[in-house]
Amino acid sequence: MQTIAEKLRLNRQCIGVVMTMGALHEGHLSLVKLAQQTAGTVILTIFVNPSQFGLNEDLHQYPRPFEQDTALAKAAGVDFLFAPEAESIYPENYQTTVECSAVARGFEGERRPGHFKGVATIVTKLFNITKPHIAVFGEKDAQQLAVIRRLVEDLNMHINIIEAPIVREKNGLAVSSRNIYLSTQERDGAAILYKGIRHAEKRVAEQGHNLQEIAEEIEKMINATPGCRSDYVGFVDEATFEPVETAEAGIEYRLLLAMYSGTVRLIDNGKIRA
Ligand code: PAJ
Repeated sequence: MQTIAEKLRLNRQCIGVVMTMGALHEGHLSLVKLAQQTAGTVILTIFVNPSQFGLNEDLHQYPRPFEQDTALAKAAGVDFLFAPEAESIYPENYQTTVECSAVARGFEGERRPGHFKGVATIVTKLFNITKPHIAVFGEKDAQQLAVIRRLVEDLNMHINIIEAPIVREKNGLAVSSRNIYLSTQERDGAAILYKGIRHAEKRVAEQGHNLQEIAEEIEKMINATPGCRSDYVGFVDEATFEPVETAEAGIEYRLLLAMYSGTVRLIDNGKIRA
């Protein structure tokens, strides 16, 4: 892959990369489309990265429909599909990690210790392997995106990071590889996350400046939905991911939500302008 990427660069090709863990869905394919609009050559990576999963998480159950993914990648017009084996990415003597501090600390970082270290490490490695000019990541994982932006800036990586909007199902549920774990009923219930975002938009537009109070209202909405249990709901500063309790007019915040539908953990987020 590195040799191919080097040749593409020598031929003055603009390389775009889209990194995924596979089980490709519409969300992933929207990233590919965005990459194709910006770069002449698009590399799609599929790698279920063990180092970003916690001990009690779903690494072994994570869906791996490789043949279906290959067909989808082909149909989407991806130029190269890079899907390495775990042993070639993390050989026996592997020792180096990349870690980002403040922005990776709260929310997902707190609930999933080591998660963003695993993400920052694999993203750095895949950047070094695919040598892209641009890389597209989804707003679906807003904190991950903030971590990657810091990483690229702090480590002087010469890569343009492009954000792709969240692709949602008809009922508002954000499309995710983990949605296959949900029954039809659970999918309906999980739409409460999107309803929470809409509630926040409405409340803030009506001059509701007490963000803490609005977050508590959303937690109550989630917990009142059968089968749903809130994990966290909070507003943060878009760049630092520091919690914000009171809104200032004209500023855009990010509302972060996480909940359990049965045993399945789901996350969502939305930009909220005060
Ligand atoms: P994965 O969960 O497979 O997601 C790959 C990319 O697709 C991420 O940038 C994610 O934000 C984006 N994405 C997922 N669902 C989306 C949706 N509904 N709408 C828009 N974009 C969506 O995120 C990862 O993999 C991994 O952490 C990775 C970056 C590949 C590192 O291992």
